[in-house]
Amino acid sequence: MSKSTVKEIRERFDNDVERFSNLDTGQVATIDAKISLELLTEASKRIKPDAESLLDIGCGAGNYSLKMLTKIANLNCTLVDLSKPMLDKAKERVSEKTKNQVTTIQGDIREIDLKENSFDIILAGAVLHHLRDDQDWESTFDKLFRLLKPGGCLMISDLITQETPAVNDYTWERYGDYLEAIDGKAYRKKVLDYVEKEDSPRSMTYQLELMKKVGFKQTEILHKNMCFGAFGAIK
Ligand SMILES: C[S@@+](CC[C@H](N)C(=O)[O-])C[C@H]1O[C@@H](n2cnc3c(N)ncnc32)[C@H](O)[C@@H]1O
Repeated sequence: MSKSTVKEIRERFDNDVERFSNLDTGQVATIDAKISLELLTEASKRIKPDAESLLDIGCGAGNYSLKMLTKIANLNCTLVDLSKPMLDKAKERVSEKTKNQVTTIQGDIREIDLKENSFDIILAGAVLHHLRDDQDWESTFDKLFRLLKPGGCLMISDLITQETPAVNDYTWERYGDYLEAIDGKAYRKKVLDYVEKEDSPRSMTYQLELMKKVGFKQTEILHKNMCFGAFGAIK
């Protein structure tokens, strides 16, 4: 099956703003979404307590920036998303919570121009699983590394695979059971079908190794539960 194009992904999210404007309903299909959000933002604060600038990629309606602002109030926020309606919502919500600068950029994180060495914290919530081949993953991780200031951190919460097919099948079966317990067999099928069509996640091991390869000094695993993980790296 061919994977969704960037245009198809953008259109799907254009029509899903309200669902992503509430941490509870937006993240119901994500195991441990709240725990991961707490861990990533608190770890970011402890790594960079004097942080001044945040880049939120695939910001959706702004949940990650909003949580980060509860940890460090004085952050200039740069919000990037493919979807204009998502960005508009994120701008509105984030601006209510800070007097600092809130900059929005509509575009593909792989293509937009941002200044190197300019961010203390980069948050990537449920977005990198849209990257496709090795080249795509490598160039994006390399770009995110270059955008960070020395000592800055990249924190990721995302869908992940396992390295071993038999274990991978097991974690995704468990995820299916989790979805079915929330809203029945049709919901399980709906979510797993769109993951199949739209997403191309990689294992946490692959991503941690890639972080080291592009130059990050340290990597950190904060949480993992079946096919969801929260982890990051420090430049
Ligand atoms: C699952 S939502 C997560 C939103 C938010 N981070 C959260 O967790 O609430 C993924 C978001 O990433 C955006 N997105 C997907 N691929 C992207 C890309 N290549 N560049 C920028 N944004 C992207 C989508 O438009 C969507 O709003």
